[in-house]
Amino acid sequence: MSNVKVLAFAGSSRLGSYNARLLTSLEHDVASAGGVITPLDLRDDLALPLYDADLEQRSGVPLGARRLQKLFAEHAALIIACPEYNGGLPPLLKNALDWVSRPLPGHDEPNSAAFRGKVVGIVSASPGSGGAAGAANHLADLLRDLRAEVVDPIVSLQLTDTDFSAGELQADHAAWPQLRELAESVVARASAHNVLDGQFNHAR
Ligand SMILES: Cc1cc2nc3c(=O)[nH]c(=O)nc-3n(C[C@H](O)[C@H](O)[C@H](O)COP(=O)(O)O)c2cc1C
Repeated sequence: MSNVKVLAFAGSSRLGSYNARLLTSLEHDVASAGGVITPLDLRDDLALPLYDADLEQRSGVPLGARRLQKLFAEHAALIIACPEYNGGLPPLLKNALDWVSRPLPGHDEPNSAAFRGKVVGIVSASPGSGGAAGAANHLADLLRDLRAEVVDPIVSLQLTDTDFSAGELQADHAAWPQLRELAESVVARASAHNVLDGQFNHAR
């Protein structure tokens, strides 16, 4: 299968974010593997309020969150670039995932279908020596709990401005073999899911 749809977003919308730049760098390799990335800026594209049960009770799941739920449903795979804040997930990312998990209109149950079977690649970047691996592993655990399929390898990189040129990771960076492997795994696993879904639908 070609043109596997991959939604890509970072847990930082900071100007010059290492994580956002890492995602941009991956676009070419995902395309070479047979996928197509839809880039999403969690801050600027969605304007999500901080999760608030009273707000949800009063006026339902907000428009930006509904839009994100729809984007999840429309994409076979996700690639998430995860910064680390005090050993955990940044609030921009956690908040978005929490909103996606809220029930769809007319349903009482959490929107677990948004994550179940979703193929997810995780990268993380930080100027710290761990490359935000703690947050990346925490994200992987959280997504597995929601029944997503987190593919190997999770790639955690210690990065600074000198690792980039023209907004992307240096072409000869030592991390490229791992990043290529990740891009290929995401597309291959999402293709396999699609084939299986197709067989299942055909059999019904
Ligand atoms: C509140 C806060 C907490 C942070 N905690 C960590 C941390 O635990 N580990 C780490 O490697 N970097 C930590 N950092 C530094 C971030 O890794 C750094 O700001 C990084 O550039 C954020 O990702 P970005 O470049 O994609 O915005 C922290 C930064 C902030 C603002």
